[in-house]
Amino acid sequence: MADRFHFSKRKVTIAIFVIATTGLIIFCFNLHLQSSAFHRPGNEKKKQGFTDSHRFPVPIDEPSCSPPVDRVVLLKNHKAAGGTLAAIIGRYGYRKDLDFALGKSGPFYETTRLIPFSRKTVLHFKNFDQYGYQMLTSQARYNRTELDYVVPNAKYISIIRNPVNHLESVFGFFRMGKKFKLTEFENPLEEFMKKPDFYLNQSALEYNLPSKLLNNGQLFNFGMEPEDMLNSHKVKRKLAEMDSEIDLILIAEYFDESMILMKRFFCWKLSDILYLHENVRNRSEKARYEISPSLEEKILSWNAKDVIMYNHFNKTFWNKVKEYGPSFEKDLAEFRRIQKVDCKTMENTFKVQNLCEYLQFRNTRLLREIKFEMTRRSGPPDGFLGW
Ligand SMILES: *[C@@H]1O[C@H](CO)[C@@H](O)[C@H](O)[C@H]1NC(C)=O
Ligand SMILES: *[C@@H]1O[C@H](CO)[C@@H](O)[C@H](O)[C@H]1NC(C)=O
Ligand SMILES: *[C@@H]1O[C@H](CO)[C@@H](O)[C@H](O)[C@H]1NC(C)=O
Ligand SMILES: *[C@@H]1O[C@H](CO)[C@@H](O)[C@H](O)[C@H]1NC(C)=O
Repeated sequence: MADRFHFSKRKVTIAIFVIATTGLIIFCFNLHLQSSAFHRPGNEKKKQGFTDSHRFPVPIDEPSCSPPVDRVVLLKNHKAAGGTLAAIIGRYGYRKDLDFALGKSGPFYETTRLIPFSRKTVLHFKNFDQYGYQMLTSQARYNRTELDYVVPNAKYISIIRNPVNHLESVFGFFRMGKKFKLTEFENPLEEFMKKPDFYLNQSALEYNLPSKLLNNGQLFNFGMEPEDMLNSHKVKRKLAEMDSEIDLILIAEYFDESMILMKRFFCWKLSDILYLHENVRNRSEKARYEISPSLEEKILSWNAKDVIMYNHFNKTFWNKVKEYGPSFEKDLAEFRRIQKVDCKTMENTFKVQNLCEYLQFRNTRLLREIKFEMTRRSGPPDGFLGW
């Protein structure tokens, strides 16, 4: 009896020793992995501050719900604050090491701009095979079947802009005045709007992206074909589809309000929605156009379908603000108070050294870094997703 007891005690001791040693080895190995990631040449800056949660800005609030939403498709419209929003969502995903759906190239790793989104344009990383990707913030024209395949079980979010501001912005950003040879006019946009169909009918520009964006370009991004927009039943059906399929449609003109709604909807923290403006036009460099009341009328009627859409979702937006409850104003004021502070002085609130640097991570740089990190996690992409 005593012998057997003795024997099993020795066995237990050995077992404990083995477990402890294995644990120690795994622990050290992990440390090694982490430190090698931190010390990759040229990557120190990025890694020193905000990749792991305990180093990231100490949130001054906690979400009132959980778990946070970690699967997001951003349907990004051109020139509708989509870049700013993509950077906010991108920073969140980057910090949490989420896997992104990325197109093959270009500063935004775009997938498709003129044709509807297809999985075939998305890079295949090994990690995809486990549970799909978690985020998409690159430009993609809406096709739900395809998007669902690439980013399963995601929340869908988008942001739209007043069609008058949107047209002016697209026209200026893509230098359409020059493309339509209207630069000798004092107001090229006004000239263009005198006969937009004529200018757009010039064959060289017909299949050009900005041309599509000028005429109800936001509905175009949501997947509508221009010829279908002539049919008001189809437009109505599209709005109903968007109502039921897109979880949250935000409004560029009310960007801060939008962030408050998004934060609640995603169960994120205040520190997750901080931003600097992205891709804002340099006024002296790129044109801005005077919009007279008569020009505004013309734009509203030429882009009437986008106007219908905008008004519809402006209503649902403010309904959501109402549903948010009485703390909305207070939360908004708090957010604005923090936003107003220069990020250099924000350190005090957030108790970190490098919040500025973090917030200056814009969309293009983020996507590059995200691609780098995905490659580190699951090897380089080996082609595109397919059937
Ligand atoms: C969307 O994708 C599906 C395949 O997943 C395809 O059958 C359908 O035609 C696509 N729709 C458009 C408008 O391209
Ligand atoms: C566009 O051009 C085609 C031929 O190039 C012409 O038949 C058509 O009438 C034009 N449409 C408009 C709106 O100018
Ligand atoms: C805008 O562009 C001009 C000319 O390229 C440049 O001199 C100016 O510094 C820019 N301003 C900003 C705010 O970037
Ligand atoms: C959006 O809706 C709000 C609330 O109904 C209204 O005050 C505002 O004028 C609308 N904005 C636009 C640009 O139509």
